[in-house]
Amino acid sequence: MNVTRGEDDRPGLLVDRFGRVVRSLRLSVTDRCNLRCQYCMPEGEIPWFPKERILTFEEIERVARHLALLGVAEIRLTGGEPLLRRDLPVLVRLLSRIEGIEDLAVTTNGLLLEEMAGPLLRAGVRRFNVHIDSLDPASFAALSRRNGLPRVLAGLSELERLGAIPVKINVVLVRGVNDDQIERFVDLALRRPYQVRFIELMPLGGGEPFEMDRLVPGREVKRRIESMKPLLPIGRDRPSAPANVYRLADGLGDIGFINPVTEPFCGDCDRIRLTADGKIRNCLFARAETDIAALLRDGSPDESISAALRAAVAAKGAGGCLDLHQFYRDRLPRKMWQIGG
Ligand code: 5AD
Ligand code: SF4
Repeated sequence: MNVTRGEDDRPGLLVDRFGRVVRSLRLSVTDRCNLRCQYCMPEGEIPWFPKERILTFEEIERVARHLALLGVAEIRLTGGEPLLRRDLPVLVRLLSRIEGIEDLAVTTNGLLLEEMAGPLLRAGVRRFNVHIDSLDPASFAALSRRNGLPRVLAGLSELERLGAIPVKINVVLVRGVNDDQIERFVDLALRRPYQVRFIELMPLGGGEPFEMDRLVPGREVKRRIESMKPLLPIGRDRPSAPANVYRLADGLGDIGFINPVTEPFCGDCDRIRLTADGKIRNCLFARAETDIAALLRDGSPDESISAALRAAVAAKGAGGCLDLHQFYRDRLPRKMWQIGG
């Protein structure tokens, strides 16, 4: 590894035109997935990235070291489904040794958690977000087009057994498909020390062309929950955290709301994304991307990589890219599973 920090050559922070500082990397390690969530992926053949385009662990580590030198302190592994990446704990170990990286987290659909949670925790993962859209096996299968709920629940138990709490659960509601699950998730948060977070459906899909009326606004979910149990405001873990969190009265767990569509939080964004094929993106909804893979593979020196990362962040837009009127008319060139959530 040829990235070093000298006495006087601290390269400074990654700051955009609006004064936002990049602190968090969403690192997609694969575009593949073992589910086919309706809002995310098509049912049929998917044109996966060819193997040789996927960044190697060494290439990922090099980018991560540069980002850490530039102030990034948190890395969240995403996909596709990140646990499908072979030898993922080896990558986690490499990343956990980078000076400046204080927090390593994983967002997973949970199917492989039961076997992988232990190795990942031992390698240095601190926190898991598990994506579960239904607690009913039939509607889980309908929404994700695969039978997987028992394995996901076994994965959750394993996290609890290993003391990896609080476990965060991400739920994306689609009206008419799984919005009948709200009460069941509330019941789960009453009984278990989980933070259940309802995420508004975003128009990112390469899947079913859901219309705007399928979105269940966070405030509607909140009202429904409050008709069952009081919610006591806790707030955000930090200003840039997307989830607004409430304690569930009489419960072991919490409830969070992530409302990117009805209450965009772009102003506090501290994130940057690296796709599995080595492109830097400022936003899920960005149209521009920076081809870091090309620089990694043409022998470019460290300074060029650092300069490219800075230039990418400098070009970050204000946000609000998610224009409601364009909800589905304006399909994005890259799909969620090719970006990393
Ligand atoms: N809208 C909202 N959330 C989504 N996710 C994936 N696709 C979408 C979408 N279209 C969520 C997953 C996972 C996280 C990475 O992003 O449920 O929790
Ligand atoms: Fe896989 Fe996540 Fe997409 Fe579902 S939302 S198909 S789990 S990448």
